[in-house]
Amino acid sequence: MKTFYITTPIYYANDVPHIGHAYTTIAADVLARWRRLKGDRVYFLTGTDEHGSKIAQAAKAAEQSPAAYLEGIVAKYKALWKRLDITTDDYIRTTEERHKQVVQAIFERLIKQGDIYLGKYEGWYCVPDETFWAEGEITEGKCPTCGRPVERITEESYFLRLSAYEKRLLDHYAQNPDFLLPRSRAPEIIQFVKGGLRDLSVSRVKVAWGIPVLSKPEHTVYVWIDALTNYITALGYRLEMSGPLFQEFWPADVHLVGKEIYRFHAVIWPVLLMALGLPLPKRVFAHGWWTVEGEKMSKSRGNVVDPHAVVETYGVDAFRYFLLREVPFGSDGDFSLKAMLGRYNSELANALGNLLNRVLTLVEKNFDGVLDVSAATNELVASSSAEWLASYDEALNRLAFNEGLEKVLALVNQANKFAEDRAPWKLIKDDREKAKSVLVEMARALKLAALALHPVMPTITQEMWQQLGEPVPLGQAAPACSPAEPSPSPQAKRFKKARPFSPRKELLDGGGGGGRGGGEGGGAPAPSPRNPHTFNRRTV
Ligand code: MSP
Repeated sequence: MKTFYITTPIYYANDVPHIGHAYTTIAADVLARWRRLKGDRVYFLTGTDEHGSKIAQAAKAAEQSPAAYLEGIVAKYKALWKRLDITTDDYIRTTEERHKQVVQAIFERLIKQGDIYLGKYEGWYCVPDETFWAEGEITEGKCPTCGRPVERITEESYFLRLSAYEKRLLDHYAQNPDFLLPRSRAPEIIQFVKGGLRDLSVSRVKVAWGIPVLSKPEHTVYVWIDALTNYITALGYRLEMSGPLFQEFWPADVHLVGKEIYRFHAVIWPVLLMALGLPLPKRVFAHGWWTVEGEKMSKSRGNVVDPHAVVETYGVDAFRYFLLREVPFGSDGDFSLKAMLGRYNSELANALGNLLNRVLTLVEKNFDGVLDVSAATNELVASSSAEWLASYDEALNRLAFNEGLEKVLALVNQANKFAEDRAPWKLIKDDREKAKSVLVEMARALKLAALALHPVMPTITQEMWQQLGEPVPLGQAAPACSPAEPSPSPQAKRFKKARPFSPRKELLDGGGGGGRGGGEGGGAPAPSPRNPHTFNRRTV
């Protein structure tokens, strides 16, 4: 059985999560769910980064102890992941003993080996970002990332001997072209390493809220060694004897990160692993950043988007869909409710909802809700289901979520066009068999769409699946969903009534027209923003 280990960054627990954090976690969840559907053994990790001066400052501002403050933030993260249907296998906190002890042991080992040595750090330090900057990197005494003033610091510090690893890193990049993804971002890393690596300051004497270095407890481990090692401590890595999860799942298949922490994952992390004699992750993928209506998202601008608020209006499934559909994974994107509304109405309510409603309504009305789908002619989707799914799988393996979703949408649009051309609602009067075969083709397209979309929109696709007469929950139909073995089964299916997707006309009225000019839709329930199973048309 194939294994698949996927991670998100561990998020700084100095503030509540926003859509940027939700984005990475949803993307990871989609891959994890897709692999599970294919029958792979998956381990999906997220967590929080809980040391450093930023956290201590945030706790102080909230007039709480760091531990109490962290409890509150972690609860918020966990609640959000639950709300967003995130299926992680573990949640690592860097303040946990299972992490701290291993970090301390790793640090001692690297001192002993000479990969970490004691020296003097002198340079510029941005306290809020916990980042050190070289002379040439700052302008007018300001942090290049956040623009706030940097401080001059001189202190004793341990250093990680990055400089000794330049050649090994460059060789690794050259021999493993999938390590740095997307490939368009690889040159920036390669140039950085070729430019010469400076040894990295990896301990602080000024930061009390951190993991003490065992042999010199006045030093605490500086944030990146502490943070990056979470990916192995969570699996039960030990210097002497690692646990079974580590044996099974390391090296990671993919670390998902935002572009701003790519370098840490592409340079420092591999060096640490090389120093420990461990295999490197297979892929490190850096995605782009979301702005909000054209502006950088920040507390000071007051434009931080709370995922709970979006979900309240659009439902979890549509939110997940939008984030992965709107821009190629790897590029920057702009979030706006207007863009979300556009996708929602055109792609979910109109295209997908319309197709499902057409099939369910016609089967209910003309065939008492039962359709024998064994006689598929493949007129609509020429390739076999397996081939179609294999090419979708290929897009997801490249993390090209939007390409995969475009493929599904193309299928749905094609099926709607097929329906318009063949007009089964008219055909039914003269040629029942022909009408039926059109419906079978449409149903087949819908099943493929439900399968492919399941990792992205787990709730609505489950509902669709059952309405299309499949009794076994999608998640449990796992091996059948492997591209090698198409799932839609060939017996007569009892379809369920068209319930969750209201007909388009009603939806148009429901979107704010107050039923004016509606006529037919009078008795239909008003679209409920709280019901995640509906893709009714909406206005913001
Ligand atoms: N604690 C470090 C990561 C350590 S990993 C070993 C950290 N934490 S963070 O809270 O700042 O989270 C950064 C991550 O959040 C980014 O890498 C990205 O995944 C996500 N995002 C935060 N803001 C974002 C946007 N505006 N847009 C997209 N994702 C962004 O860095």
